[in-house]
Amino acid sequence: MDDLKSKYLGLIADAGDEAALEDLRVQAVGKKGEVSLKMRELGKMSPEERQVMGPKLNALKDEINSALSAKKSALADAALDERLRGEWLDVTLPGRPARQGTIHPVSQVTEEVTAIFADMGFAVAEGPQIEDDWHNFDALNIPPEHPARQEHDTFFMHRADGDNRPPHVLRTHTSPVQIRALQAQGAPIRVIAPGRVYRCDYDQTHTPMFHQVEGLAIDRDISMANLKWVLEEFCRAYFEVDKVELRFRASHFPFTEPSAEVDLRCSWQDGTLKVGEGDDWMEILGSGMVHPKVLAAGGIDPDQWQGFAFGLGIDRIAMLKYGIPDLRAFFDSDLRWLRHYGFASLDQPTLRGGLSR
Ligand code: PHE
Repeated sequence: MDDLKSKYLGLIADAGDEAALEDLRVQAVGKKGEVSLKMRELGKMSPEERQVMGPKLNALKDEINSALSAKKSALADAALDERLRGEWLDVTLPGRPARQGTIHPVSQVTEEVTAIFADMGFAVAEGPQIEDDWHNFDALNIPPEHPARQEHDTFFMHRADGDNRPPHVLRTHTSPVQIRALQAQGAPIRVIAPGRVYRCDYDQTHTPMFHQVEGLAIDRDISMANLKWVLEEFCRAYFEVDKVELRFRASHFPFTEPSAEVDLRCSWQDGTLKVGEGDDWMEILGSGMVHPKVLAAGGIDPDQWQGFAFGLGIDRIAMLKYGIPDLRAFFDSDLRWLRHYGFASLDQPTLRGGLSR
């Protein structure tokens, strides 16, 4: 019995896992285990022998059983320790804050427009927001006495007393960038110029600062047909619809001849806009063939080069696409509005990935 005892206590102490422990239990105290077989032999013993051996065997069985359960819980503790070591967590790390800040719809739409025109071969050009009178007006065939000057609700910069040169202005449109791009790059040229413009006007659809994107394409044989295709292609991509219908309405701008304002077929149902269907027309831009005097002001020979230009209201097409009712809210910096209408900072618009998703 002493041999049995030291054998099993040794084996139990060395057992590596619960399965090994269970095998030992069956071998020792299971129905056909060594200790159990010894207990069966009690029946063949004399009553005196049985009185001695019975309690000894019982004690041995108890001892093995409690060694088994002690080892079992030791193994469970070790397994838990092992798991806790793996699941270690540094509670002193700073928390991850919810994402803060969004991309303003004007920025988002500017990116969308840029992606679409880039795909059609247009580069981005820039000009100053504080513009001189010549670039904003004269070079665009708007001489000093021209009535269009009044229509522009221009903000004039102050000149020092005694300085009689014409004052600088806050540019009233992005068209002066046509002149600057022509002067800088010459022809042929294909550029867009998104940016801020200023007019002294304020109501639900007008703010003193707003955004336009200018388009300019000059080459030897560019026609109105190219203008129409480019604008249709743009609208299809921007509004993310298969079919668009544009209406070219004869109009007048001093810097284009002929000139056309462009309307988009749409419908308004329960306050939501659908593009490409319905009975309404929405004016979205001004356009035309660049006036020879404008080409000349840009340093380009109008007998050799021709092309189109257009000017599109960015805020306006942002309102249309994203169902934003009041333009003034764009520039109130109200955090609730920005969170509602803003875009996730990592969702960059691409034609391949989808513009707005
Ligand atoms: N500059 C014009 C405006 O602000 C738009 C325009 C641009 C029209 C280019 C024709 C060509 O209203």
